[in-house]
Amino acid sequence: MDMSRIADQGLVLLGCGKMGSALLAGWLEGGLPPASVWVVDPHPSDWLKSRGVQINAPLPEAPALVLVAVKPQMMREALPALKALGGGETLFVSVAAGTPIATYEEMLGDETPIVRAMPNTPAAIGRGITAIIGNTHASAEHLDVAEGLLSAVGQVVRLERESQIDAVTGVSGSGPAYVFLLIECLAAAGEAQGLGADLAMQLAKATVAGAGALAEASDEPPSQLRINVTSPNGTTQAALEVLMEADHGFPHLLRQAVAAATHRSKELSRG
Ligand SMILES: NC(=O)c1ccc[n+]([C@@H]2O[C@H](COP(=O)([O-])OP(=O)(O)OC[C@H]3O[C@@H](n4cnc5c(N)ncnc54)[C@H](OP(=O)(O)O)[C@@H]3O)[C@@H](O)[C@H]2O)c1
Repeated sequence: MDMSRIADQGLVLLGCGKMGSALLAGWLEGGLPPASVWVVDPHPSDWLKSRGVQINAPLPEAPALVLVAVKPQMMREALPALKALGGGETLFVSVAAGTPIATYEEMLGDETPIVRAMPNTPAAIGRGITAIIGNTHASAEHLDVAEGLLSAVGQVVRLERESQIDAVTGVSGSGPAYVFLLIECLAAAGEAQGLGADLAMQLAKATVAGAGALAEASDEPPSQLRINVTSPNGTTQAALEVLMEADHGFPHLLRQAVAAATHRSKELSRG
């Protein structure tokens, strides 16, 4: 299945909220014809209405692909409308957190090719990272198509087992919130040292964004980049001695935080 098959046979987007809109914007920018897209959403946004796609119209009989982007709690209400497309050639790709492949197989038939994906919010600016895993009926070609579509909003990585999704959720899915908290805390700490609130926030945002971009662009690993800015007995070393403290420091806290998110992801997917 290549991208031209999607243009020919159509793509159905179930749920066009934040994640669905980010994906749709990426596909249209990438040249997918609006006439090939059918969107199902009870309250289409003004942005969506002016895209030229088909909204809540009768669906094609055998679209190449259905992208599921409704909230997990809406799944049992939303998916039965598409049951007729299950068990055939149509590939289902879901970005819903906490809904295991088995739930889709149960609702759509276990012959259905299904790819489960875990994206994150920087997808909204094309800087997301999405992990994907297919069921036994998802072929290598299906995974390529899913990767092609999801790469419209950032990087895509492949998993070996569905169980890895929980840890991915703990690292990259929920991770943007940890980084937002880091920005908030860094700004607040700057204020505590006498800086004005706006200045402290500008410094904190630019430092996190700049360091993140440097870490991605550099050939050196983050640990070496850290060592490079840490002169013996200097200011950075003074701070890192606090942050790297064995029992309460950053490594320990993040390990606990990611473990808690992973644990919650497992609980949620058990329903
Ligand atoms: N946002 C993220 O960064 C992120 C990250 C990872 C995974 N995800 C997953 O992506 C999915 C969507 O998240 P989101 O943040 O985009 O949520 P969202 O903004 O609430 O979008 C969900 C959309 O689905 C619509 N919808 C509700 N019931 C429907 C139905 N029966 N049929 C068709 N559409 C229906 C909603 O319409 P109304 O608003 O009118 O109800 C809304 O437009 C979730 O499953 C989430 O787990 C999101």
